[in-house]
Amino acid sequence: MDKFQIKGPCKIKGEVEISGAKNSALVLLAATLLFDKPVILKNLPRVRDIDTMLNLLKSLGSKIILSKDKKIVKIQNKKKMKTLAKYSLVKTMRASILVLGPSISKFHKSIISYPGGCNIGSRPVNYHLSALKKLGMKYEIKQGYIHAKTNGRLNGAKINFPRISVGTTENTILAASLASGKTILKNCAIEPEIKDLTNFLNAAGAKIKWSGRTCSITGVKSLKEINYSVMGDRIEAGTFCIAATLAEGDLQIKNFNPKNIETELKLLKKAGAKFKTFENKIFIKGPKKIKPIKNIKTKEWPGVATDMQSQLMVLMCKANGQSSITENIFENRFLHVGELQRLGAKIKIKNSTATIEGNTKFIGAELMSSDLRASVALVLAAMVSKGKSAINRIYHLDRGYEKLENKLKKIGVKIKRLK
Ligand code: EPU
Repeated sequence: MDKFQIKGPCKIKGEVEISGAKNSALVLLAATLLFDKPVILKNLPRVRDIDTMLNLLKSLGSKIILSKDKKIVKIQNKKKMKTLAKYSLVKTMRASILVLGPSISKFHKSIISYPGGCNIGSRPVNYHLSALKKLGMKYEIKQGYIHAKTNGRLNGAKINFPRISVGTTENTILAASLASGKTILKNCAIEPEIKDLTNFLNAAGAKIKWSGRTCSITGVKSLKEINYSVMGDRIEAGTFCIAATLAEGDLQIKNFNPKNIETELKLLKKAGAKFKTFENKIFIKGPKKIKPIKNIKTKEWPGVATDMQSQLMVLMCKANGQSSITENIFENRFLHVGELQRLGAKIKIKNSTATIEGNTKFIGAELMSSDLRASVALVLAAMVSKGKSAINRIYHLDRGYEKLENKLKKIGVKIKRLK
């Protein structure tokens, strides 16, 4: 199993090119199931979750043609598609559930493995299922699979989501795009990736409008051929901004919209970072002394992203005083804490709040990755630790960060991938 070896501490300087957003590309790929006509997607990130989604689409019958650098894909569906999404594919990536909405809407049948829990929480799909049921989907759970069907087209409905959920909002929008009549969704998630999805669908002829957290969808019969570029990854960009703040960095970070990380940038400013933003890039410099921040709380967009909580925690370990972070989205997203403690961090957890004593002098150690964002937090911590660290099980990282070691090497991090 691959691992990273990192020799710290390092200062970072230079330019970083952000890849396409994993969480946007995943839902756009699922959306291609709605099309009879070919779809071209550009700026795909070359990460493992995208390979998994492409394999899932292939298993359903889509013809996939990838460019040589694998950043552009052309997808053409067959007249008769398959409807079984197998356990072997779904178990490695929960986002596979996003094929349910489009499959049921387009093919009127879907059998998909029920996604299990994962390292960051139990992550049920009850909201997905009950919203799709309101559009007319019937389902039962048998032998670990969701067996779903509908008699003809789904029907538009009014749905008030009980909790803001990214995946539920996406799955329901996908299903409602080809439903008969109008759907009104209230209490939607409005993450930038969801806006990327509705921009994509509208460009292909869907009729979707937003007003705050309400999304109105007038179903159409079919979607047009489309060529679309995936937005830049705000979480990858935010991770590099935190890296710059943490390691007295001086970075130019390109190919993403800094407005998508405005909330996190406000925190980095409080911590002492100085930056200048442009339409598609940011220049950011880290301070000599990092200031602590009390009461950081993760929240749905436009709040602080849960996908940046672990990286912010590393930053707060090096701050000049005590800080606290509350995780409000997932029940078990503090798996990085035990590993950071092995480097010397002083963190106490009570319920969903972590209190972090600052001024930590990290000393390199052997570490274990647990999930995607926890893993990248360990990489950041190792970068500012004295001596060598080894980060095991980096397959988690490869799910969502494209060529991380190459990007880090280019800006001065002493990092090696060991096979
Ligand atoms: N939830 C339910 N029932 C449901 C759906 C969600 O209880 O049917 C709960 C979840 O367990 C969680 C909360 O609602 O406690 C919010 O979950 P949400 O549905 O918003 O998350 P998701 O769609 O499963 C996406 C991203 C995550 C990101 C979250 C929150 C993708 C593929 N995944 O997950 O990304 O953390 O939204 O922003 O878009 C990552 O990239 O590392 C990652 C985990």
